[in-house]
Amino acid sequence: MESNDQDHIESMNSPLELIWNWAYEIEHSRLEDLYRKAKRDQWDADVQLDWSAPVDPAGKILDRERTGIMRMKFFERLSKSQLETFNAKNSAWTLSQLLHGEQGALMVAGTLIAAVPDFEAKLYVASQAMDEARHVEVFRRYIRKLDKIYPIQPVLKALLKDIMETPYWQAKTVGMQVILEGLALGTFINVGAETGCKLLRELLSYVTKDEARHVAFGSIYLGTAIAEMEEDPRRAVEDFALEATRKIVAMRRSMQGFEGFDVVLIDSNIDPDDFLAAMRQKVADGLKLQSAPGSVHTFRGLIMPGIVRAGLVSDRVRPGYEEANIRVFSDTAVLERLEDLGESAFAG
Ligand SMILES: [Fe+2]
Ligand SMILES: [Fe+2]
Repeated sequence: MESNDQDHIESMNSPLELIWNWAYEIEHSRLEDLYRKAKRDQWDADVQLDWSAPVDPAGKILDRERTGIMRMKFFERLSKSQLETFNAKNSAWTLSQLLHGEQGALMVAGTLIAAVPDFEAKLYVASQAMDEARHVEVFRRYIRKLDKIYPIQPVLKALLKDIMETPYWQAKTVGMQVILEGLALGTFINVGAETGCKLLRELLSYVTKDEARHVAFGSIYLGTAIAEMEEDPRRAVEDFALEATRKIVAMRRSMQGFEGFDVVLIDSNIDPDDFLAAMRQKVADGLKLQSAPGSVHTFRGLIMPGIVRAGLVSDRVRPGYEEANIRVFSDTAVLERLEDLGESAFAG
């Protein structure tokens, strides 16, 4: 179908220095291993997933944390069919945000191919670009079985714009592989563990294995790359990480996370003002997101330790985290477990 509607096309400027590497030498053997593992573990969503399996949009799609708002008193007033509609649309909206993040990851991976200085790092990020293409493919396809693709949430979009527009590839990598992919990976693991939908569970198990490799890349490559930066650019990357973290925290703790959500409410025949008033009350009382026992705590387990380990919480920026009421978690146990999954069992 041809369309003249260009609203779905948007450009952003991504300043980029392209780096050639004429030596073709391998210095980071762990990166080479990760590349070989990525080649070996490619999968085809047409072959590995059964797309004919039934999907019930009114069924249990997301995990407890993400359906938590449905336990609010507000929802007791709704009819069964309204609740079912809301459930489907809320799920599609949430997964749409992951889809937009995947498109961002695809573009960052493409950008990193040109920007990273090491030859084996270029090979590895090329494999990541293919992984991200597959993730965009499968989320797009799955969401359309539930409902439709919803527009991007404004805070997430602001964060993606920051990642696209920073001139430092190290900042792009922190923003994408540590912060956004940390957020996405936590969501994939937690939704995958609790969803009642077989297709989504299988899809997420494949995606999670890819993402574990992407997180491992951050661990192998980023700390050294940041340590090697000159002082001024390194400060810029530290500031970038603080600002990105502030955005993520605001999205999770305040009403900012519900910006752009009114379209789901309207489509579900729920008055946005009523809903937002109830939600505002909940946030004022201290929004507590309930997650299942044993689930991954994304912020404490993945994002913050990743930022600390990359060497980005210097004495200069630490007060900024404290002022924003962000605890600087540095225990890397969860992160390392996932990275082992990304790196492990390379049998050749
Ligand atoms: Fe991805
Ligand atoms: Fe990824």
